[in-house]
Amino acid sequence: MSCASLSSDGLVVSLTIANNTTRFHAIWLRDNALDDATKSSTNGQRLIALRDIDVSTYMSHAQVLAEALHVTFMPEQKTVAFPLAWLAAHAYDTPQASTKGWHPANQSLWDNNLMGHLPVADFDAVSSSPQALQAWLAGIARFGFAKLNGGPIKAGALTQVVDLFGHVRDTNYGRIFEVRVEEKPTNLAFTGLALQAHTDNPYRDPVPTMQVLYCLESSAPGGDNVLVDGFNAARQLQQENPHGFDLLSRYCARFEYAGEADACLQSKRPMIELAPDGQLQGIRFNNRSAAPFTDIPFEHMADYYAAYRRLGEIIDHPNSEVGFRLNPGDCFVIDNTRVLHARKAFSGAGTRWLQGCYTDMDGLRSRLAVLNNVLGEG
Ligand code: OGA
Ligand code: ZN
Repeated sequence: MSCASLSSDGLVVSLTIANNTTRFHAIWLRDNALDDATKSSTNGQRLIALRDIDVSTYMSHAQVLAEALHVTFMPEQKTVAFPLAWLAAHAYDTPQASTKGWHPANQSLWDNNLMGHLPVADFDAVSSSPQALQAWLAGIARFGFAKLNGGPIKAGALTQVVDLFGHVRDTNYGRIFEVRVEEKPTNLAFTGLALQAHTDNPYRDPVPTMQVLYCLESSAPGGDNVLVDGFNAARQLQQENPHGFDLLSRYCARFEYAGEADACLQSKRPMIELAPDGQLQGIRFNNRSAAPFTDIPFEHMADYYAAYRRLGEIIDHPNSEVGFRLNPGDCFVIDNTRVLHARKAFSGAGTRWLQGCYTDMDGLRSRLAVLNNVLGEG
């Protein structure tokens, strides 16, 4: 049994469905009207602007009929139907998360306990089965990374991985870049040195939100990869030291890359980025490219450094990491705003050759949402 009642000024409607009441404002409903004079029936885009809606808009009638709320807006005298299921899916009269460092339920934070349950799929399966692709992409959205095994052992094959959900983002390193020992490396990644867990390219704004690292040769001993959930590390820091977490989220760090004549990339962003409602938004952590920090007040700098050091200790701790070795044809894909990657050192005996490229999470989320629409949520 559903019913609707209007406030005396007609500015708010209360909708009760099965004993649950949720409220909507007249201006919100009018702005989101689903009729084809308000929204294009071909592309769903809004045909009007807010300036086209009378500032004194109110509702003169509200009634539930046939699983829809029918509302008459004044002074337009326009009646619009809103399916109850649509209203339920878009209700906002609900408790809103606001604690600092929260994350949505479709993200699972992880530590070393994820070993043995790494999200992984087979290249041929995700290339041929929409269900397999959906499950693999959902894993990346949930855990911030996934492996993909058994791809072609062929230079450039990593772009076929990106083609599954998005578009390569070109940078000064090229559309794809070679990760192997070079004589004059423009980046320490192009040596055999160990790399501390890091997010890539924090000196870029906007930062590339995804990275693919694809293995073509791995006969050299060493060079195993390690991943760390930066959101989990940030939450651990927050529990131990809320003030330190606050400093790393409130003040901007600086990052810079000027390793080649043609590049001078600089950014000013916090190491722990929160949305205005406190949601964990992103991590930037990279010892190689941190620049002198100049945006932290003098009286907070020592505490800031203590928090930065502790965040690094949490990131470096074996409890935080999962590790694996990539074989030729294997790759991993990471949400570069959340998951850090590291590499153990490797020696000159044998070869290690990866190719890398950047892409973005918006493409992945779009592909996943389309698959969820078509196939149902997996
Ligand atoms: C990189 C990087 C890790 C590796 O190229 O960004 O971190 O496994 N490489 O070589
Ligand atoms: Zn890297």
